[in-house]
Formats: sequence, C-alpha cells, structure tokens
Amino acid sequence: MSSETPQAMTPVGVNHLVLNVRDIERAHQFWTEIMGFRQIGHLEQRNERSMNMRFYNGLSESHHDLALVEIPGGAPDEDEWSMAPRRPGLNHFAVHYPDRESWLKQIEFLQEKGVKFNLRINHGMTHSVYINDPDGHGIEVLYELPREHWQGDIQAALNYADVLPTEGAEALLDEPTPAFSGD
Ligand SMILES: [Fe+2]
Repeated sequence: MSSETPQAMTPVGVNHLVLNVRDIERAHQFWTEIMGFRQIGHLEQRNERSMNMRFYNGLSESHHDLALVEIPGGAPDEDEWSMAPRRPGLNHFAVHYPDRESWLKQIEFLQEKGVKFNLRINHGMTHSVYINDPDGHGIEVLYELPREHWQGDIQAALNYADVLPTEGAEALLDEPTPAFSGD
C-alpha cells in the first residue's frame, strides 16, 4: 500500500451527454435534421421497463457524443435511483479517464470518500460507474475500451451490459469485456 494521500484523478474530459426528452421522435428530428447529429444505435427493448434510448454521433470517432432517452408515462419512485428518465433535462454526462489504471484509482478514491455508486456496469465500449453530484446531477465515470474492441458492432456494444457490485472491494474489481467484432 502506498503511503501517499489519495487524490482525485483528473479526467480527460466530458465524454457524452444524455438528455431526457418528452417525445423521442420530436427530439430525434431536432438533433438530426436541425443540428446534424447522426444516429448510430439504439437500446434494444428487452422488456416493458426498457428505456427508449437512441445514441448519436457528431464528427467525432466516439461510440456516442449524445443520447436521448424518452420519459415514460408512469414515473418511477422518486426516492430510488434509476437511469430511467423522470423529467426533461440532463440525464447524465460522462467524464472519461485516459486508461484503466487512472480510472481504477479514481473509483477507489470515490469509494473512500463515501460517494455512492448508483450503478457499476461494463458496457461494450466503456467500463462505467454512475454517481451523482451533491445537486443530483448524474455523472458517469468511465474509461474507454480500445476502439477496435467496439467499432465492429457498435449496436451490440451499446446493448452489452454487465452489472457489477456497487459496494466493497468487489466494486473495485475490473475484468475485461469481450470484443464486438461484428459479422
Ligand atoms: Fe452514458
């Protein structure tokens, strides 16, 4: 164990933005036809609780710069954290770390500082921890898997979800995600 005082790791920057919208078709039309974003994937509907969510790119080479998620008719319990949208506005934004090591240091630091992990999940493009700032804004803290890992099938990578423990030493373990090569 190092005797250094743990410090917050500085991220590379903001990775993507997720907006809660009332009408996904209306928002889609705006962000594509008026703003020029391009849809690159969507969340597959697995059950009635699945979110209606679409992912978009600008000119970046990222898996997504922007996502839209539609607010469903029946709002979930306000006390319980959920990524399912409840009102228009920001769902979450994502900050990214340059590599696995700095990200692991940061999530260890977050845990040590008592920051609650709402969700610890491996997507096909990123390994992510979802937290809130003191005002309740959603923040996804992530590192990206190498591009060759997910570029072959972005849709499959977007829909891949390995949900992991959010507390204790297990929340800080990180195993590789299989590559999405496509056909
Ligand atoms: Fe995200």
